Amino acid sequence: MKRIAVLTSGGDAPGMNAAIRAVVRGGLEQGWEVFGVRQGYAGLMGGDFVSLSARDVGGIIQQGGTVLGSARAPEFKTEEGRKQALANLEARGVEALVVIGGGGSQSGAYALSRMGFPVVGVASTIDNDLYGSETTIGVDTALNIALEAIDRLKVTASSHHRAFLVEVMGRDCGYLALMAGIAGGAEVIVLLEVESDPEEVIETLKAAYRRGKAHAIAVVAEGATNNANELMLYAQENQKRIGFDLRVTILGHVQRGGMPGAFDRLLATRLGVGAVERLAGGEHGVLMGLIRGEILATPLDEAAGRKKPLDLGLLEMARVLAK
Ligand code: F6P
Repeated sequence: MKRIAVLTSGGDAPGMNAAIRAVVRGGLEQGWEVFGVRQGYAGLMGGDFVSLSARDVGGIIQQGGTVLGSARAPEFKTEEGRKQALANLEARGVEALVVIGGGGSQSGAYALSRMGFPVVGVASTIDNDLYGSETTIGVDTALNIALEAIDRLKVTASSHHRAFLVEVMGRDCGYLALMAGIAGGAEVIVLLEVESDPEEVIETLKAAYRRGKAHAIAVVAEGATNNANELMLYAQENQKRIGFDLRVTILGHVQRGGMPGAFDRLLATRLGVGAVERLAGGEHGVLMGLIRGEILATPLDEAAGRKKPLDLGLLEMARVLAK
């Protein structure tokens, strides 16, 4: 093999740059030329390639976001878009592609792989919903950002005897909400995986008030049927019953914009190097992930399009502990 390419796709995640750096420098070590593709699959279809040297990826391991840029590219779901992408890869003599991204991105990787092009995926999404990796690049940093926000909200909430509805990211997965809720000591956790009843949320906040708590926190997943704004509307009509004064904070993209912590830098580096090693060994059509502490490959036909289930037993544990 002489040339490979790497791209980042979907929602950015802290640690993506560390993974790019690992793929580029790992690839150069093999004697390959490494191209970066700008703006994910959009750049792949548009032919936006740049040859990367070791220096080009210097000083990025600690940066959040992705120096290659990322995009959501619905056109890549069409046969025409994919054929164009393959033509662009072939025109540059690129023989394999590393796709750093989450669920949608790995489905794209699988589609290319089925068309006969060698692809290796690297599990990266703050949502942590990818099958084939117990944790994905960006999760740890995003979770810590959410926790810092919750800790700060508790301080001001206590001063004013308030309850906060804190919405965390996760349109399709409640992992961040569940973990931020447990680690943040929330009184209520609202997920999309479990049907929520606004009345139950109100009653739980009210019970916390009656127990003499100075504040209460409800962590709500973005994708929950009753998101934070909807819960707020419902709660406002019942404000008197709750006791606490109520406020809403939506953390949103703040969670994605952090500098990667040590865990994400190390995970991303190991996954990026793992991807290069697999390609060097002639393996492709796989997703690189962390499984029981090891960097392992799962076939894309097993991982792509498959969501990792949440451990909902933890929700009951959180309920018991929120005394
Ligand atoms: O996929 C990661 C994620 O941050 C989700 O948690 C969130 O629902 C979504 O992306 C937001 O997407 P966008 O950045 O396109 O608004």
